[in-house]
Amino acid sequence: KAIYLKNYQPPEYLIPETRLHFELHEEFALVHATLRLARRPGSSATSLRLHGEDLELLAIALNGRALVDGEYAVDDASLTLTGLAETVELQTTTRIRPQDNTALEGLYKSRAMFCTQCEAEGFRKITYFLDRPDVMSVFSVTIDADLERYPVLLSNGNRTAQSGLADARHRVVWEDPFPKPAYLFALVAGDLARVEDTFTTMSGRSVVLRIYVEEKDLGKCDHAMQSLKHAMRWDEEVYGREYDLDIFNIVAVDDFNMGAMENKSLNIFNTSCILASPETTTDVGFERVESIVAHEYFHNWSGNRVTCRDWFQLSLKEGFTVFRDAEFSADRGARDLKRIEDATLLRTAQFAEDGGPMAHPVRPDSFIEISNFYTLTVYEKGAAVVRMIHTLLGPERFRAGSDLYFERHDGQAVTCDDFVDAMQDSSGVDLSQFRRWYSQAGTPELAISGEYDADARTFALHVTQSCPATPGQPDKLPLVIPLAMGLLGDAGNLRLQLQGEPAGSELADNTHRVLEVNAAEQSFLFTDVPEKPVPSLLRGFSAPVRVRYDFSREDLCALMMRDGDGFARWDAGQQLMVQALGNLQTQRRDGEALALDPLLVDALGGLLRDEQLEPAVAAAMLALPGENTLAELASHAGGADVEGIHAAREHARGAIAGALGDELAGVYRRCRVSEEYAPVGEQIGRRTLANVCLSYLATLGEAQVALAATQLEAADNLTDRLAALQILAQYGEASQRESALQRFYDDWSHETLVVNQWLQLQAMLTVGDSLERVRALMEHPAFTLDNPNKVRAVVGAFASGNPTGFHRADGAGYGFLGGIVEILNRRNPQMAARLLVPLTKWRNYPAGRDAMREELQRLAALPDLSPDVYEVVSKSLA
Ligand code: ARG
Ligand code: ZN
Repeated sequence: KAIYLKNYQPPEYLIPETRLHFELHEEFALVHATLRLARRPGSSATSLRLHGEDLELLAIALNGRALVDGEYAVDDASLTLTGLAETVELQTTTRIRPQDNTALEGLYKSRAMFCTQCEAEGFRKITYFLDRPDVMSVFSVTIDADLERYPVLLSNGNRTAQSGLADARHRVVWEDPFPKPAYLFALVAGDLARVEDTFTTMSGRSVVLRIYVEEKDLGKCDHAMQSLKHAMRWDEEVYGREYDLDIFNIVAVDDFNMGAMENKSLNIFNTSCILASPETTTDVGFERVESIVAHEYFHNWSGNRVTCRDWFQLSLKEGFTVFRDAEFSADRGARDLKRIEDATLLRTAQFAEDGGPMAHPVRPDSFIEISNFYTLTVYEKGAAVVRMIHTLLGPERFRAGSDLYFERHDGQAVTCDDFVDAMQDSSGVDLSQFRRWYSQAGTPELAISGEYDADARTFALHVTQSCPATPGQPDKLPLVIPLAMGLLGDAGNLRLQLQGEPAGSELADNTHRVLEVNAAEQSFLFTDVPEKPVPSLLRGFSAPVRVRYDFSREDLCALMMRDGDGFARWDAGQQLMVQALGNLQTQRRDGEALALDPLLVDALGGLLRDEQLEPAVAAAMLALPGENTLAELASHAGGADVEGIHAAREHARGAIAGALGDELAGVYRRCRVSEEYAPVGEQIGRRTLANVCLSYLATLGEAQVALAATQLEAADNLTDRLAALQILAQYGEASQRESALQRFYDDWSHETLVVNQWLQLQAMLTVGDSLERVRALMEHPAFTLDNPNKVRAVVGAFASGNPTGFHRADGAGYGFLGGIVEILNRRNPQMAARLLVPLTKWRNYPAGRDAMREELQRLAALPDLSPDVYEVVSKSLA
C-alpha cells in the first residue's frame, strides 16, 4: 500500500518521555516500555494507534492500571488505544526474538552481540511506539544482561548507573538528554574491546571517543579514530558546529544491511566501513572509512539535532550530509579527484535510476516501503542539489544560510522546504524556481551550441534545457542550472567578458564563470573574443545534468590536454574515449577491422610522458569509462550491447598497451612505492597510477603478467596485492589463476574482510563461465547468505559488476539472481530488494529484454512477497 506526501498529518499524541527496560536472554528479550503520552496542542483526538510489528504483547497498563481485553486492540502492525485523556502513561511489556531476526532491522544478533538498526522503521519491531521522525522523545534506557557474555552494555547519551544483579547478570542505565525520534535509538550488548581517545571542542570541552570492536580487531581502529577527530574539527571550522555530549561511541558489527548508522552518540558501523589496516584494507577502503565516519558524525547536526518531519524529507538530512562529507573529503585530499568520483557515480548509477522505472524526485511523492528510497537520487543527487545552492550563493552566504537553518530548527523535525527557506531568507536570493529540483524527477539535458563571429569578435552559447518524462511526471518545467564554464583558446583559457556585465570586472579569476541557466532556451554572448574558442562546459560537474555539445575530436583533445579546469580535462578525455569506443563497436558490428582512434592514443601518450601531472589525476585520465557507464550512455541509443561494449573496451586496452607499452612500463617503474605503506594521498596516487599501467600492460602477454606475479609476492599492502591478484586471475593461465587464488585464500582466510574482497574479485572475473564460478563461490565455506557483506561481494558484485556474465545470452544470470531474491525475500527483504535493482534496468538491454522481464514477472507472481520486493518488482514492470 502506497503512502503519499500530500496526506501528511501531524501526530495526534506526542511522547515527551520514554523509559525502556531491556532484559536480554539467549532465547528472547523482554522490553518493558513506559511512555508518557501527551496530546498534541491543537488535536482533540482521544484514540491513538501505535506502531508495532513482530511483537508479543505480554502486559499493558494505562496510568498504572492493567488493561483487559476490549480496552485495547492489537493487530500485526499496531496497538490501538481509545478513550485517552490529554496526558497518560502507557506501560507495555513485549517479548521479541533478536536471535531469529534475520532481517537485521530492529534488535538483532550479529555473531555474539546484540545490536540495533532502527532507521527507518525498525523501532516498531522493538516496542509499541509512534515510530515516525516527527515524534521526538527523551529516552532513558535500562539494560539487563548476563555479565560474562555481555560485559559491555551501551545505549544513547550518558551512562548514569550500573549495578550487579542476581544470577551473574548486571544492569546499566543510559540517559540521553536530547529529544530524538525513535529511528535514532540504539542499543548494543556484547563482549567488546575498545580503543579510546579524547577530543577538545572549540569551546574547550573534552569529549571521550570510543570505538568498540571484537578483541581481534583492536589493531584496526586507528584510522577511524583519526578520521573522527578530523571530522569533528572540520565541522567546527567550516560549519561552526560543535559536538554536544561528553561521550561519542562507535561500534563495529559484522552483519549490517548498510554502511553505518548515525544513532545519537552511538554510531553503529558495518565492520567494512570502520576497520582499516594496510593488510586488510585497500586505499579506496581507507578513504571510504574516513568519509563514512565523517558522514555519520556530521549527522549529529544535519539529521539528529535537526531531523526530518517525515521520510519523504529523507534528503533533507542525507543530501545535505553527503554534501558535507564530500566537501570534507575534498578538503582532506584532492578536490578534482573527489569530483571525478562523484560525477562518475552520478552519471553511471544515479542517471540510470533517474531514467528507469523507479525514478523519483529527490523528495519522493509516494512510496510503498521507505527502505527502497535510500537511493542514489536521495543521497547523491540530493547532495548535488545542495551543492548547486552552495554554488549559486557562494561559500559565505551558504554558511550564513546553514547557520540560520541550525539556529531556527534546532530540536525540530523539518522539511526540505525549511532548508531552502533558510538559505533564501539569509541570502535574499530567490530560490522559488530552484525548488523544482526537489519535486521533479529525471536527468535534465542541456543541448548547447556555440557560434563564433570573427568580425564582431563575439562567441554565443545557445542553451536549450529539457528533461525526459518519468513515471507520473510527463511534463517538466525549466530548472535553475548553474553551468560553470570557460573558453579555451590556442594559448590557454581566455578572459571572459559577458555582454551586459560591467567591463573589465574585477573577478579574481577572469577565465571562469558560472552561467545561470533557468529558461527552456537562452543564449549567453561573450564579447571581445579574439579567436574561435572551445567551450569548457560543466566544470567541476556544477549540476547533475547531461550536456550535449558537438565537439570535434580535436576540440576534446585540446580540452583534455590544456584546459585550466582539472575536472573538465578528465571529462573531455572521457568523451573522447566514449566516442572511440563507440566507433570500435560500430566497426565490430559491421565486421570491419578494429582501429582505435590514433588521436586518443597520442593524447594518452602525452599524459604518460607528462611528469608534472599528478599521478592520481593521470590515473583517472588514463582509465577507460566502465562498462556500466557505457551501458548507461547506450541505453538511449537503442539499448546497450553488453558483449560489444566489453569487446570494444578490451580491444582498446590492448591497442593502447600495444602502442604505449614502453611509456606504461616506464611509468609503472617510476611510480612504484618503495616506502612503507601509508594511506596518504601522495602514495595512493602513485599506487593507483602504477596499477592502472599494470592492468594495461597485462593485456600484452605472459611477460607482463609475470610483473603482476612479482608484485603480488613483494607487496606489503592489500591494494597492490589485490590489483596483482586480479590481473593474474583475469589474464594468467588457468593453473596460474587457480593457484594464485588458492594461495591468497590460504594466507588470508582468518580475515573476513579480506576474504570478502577475494570473493568479490572472483565474482567479477570474466574468464570462463562466470556464473558457474559464482555458484561455486556460494558453496565455499567462507560464504553465507545470512551476511549482507558476503551477499554483496558475490551476488551483488556479479549482477552489477560483471555485465557479460550477468547478461549472458541464455538468461541464466537473471534466473540465478531471481532465485537468490526469492530466498532472501523472507529472510532479509531489504537486501532482496536491493539485489534486484540490476534486473529492473531491463529496458536498457535489447538482448536481455524478454528474459529479464520474464524473471521479474516470475517474481511478481510469487506468494508472500515482502513490501520491499513487491514495490521494486511491480514498479519495474509497470
Ligand atoms: N542513515 C544511514 C546513513 O546514511 C543509513 C541508514 C539506512 N537504513 C535503511 N534502513 N535503509 O547514513
Ligand atoms: Zn546518512
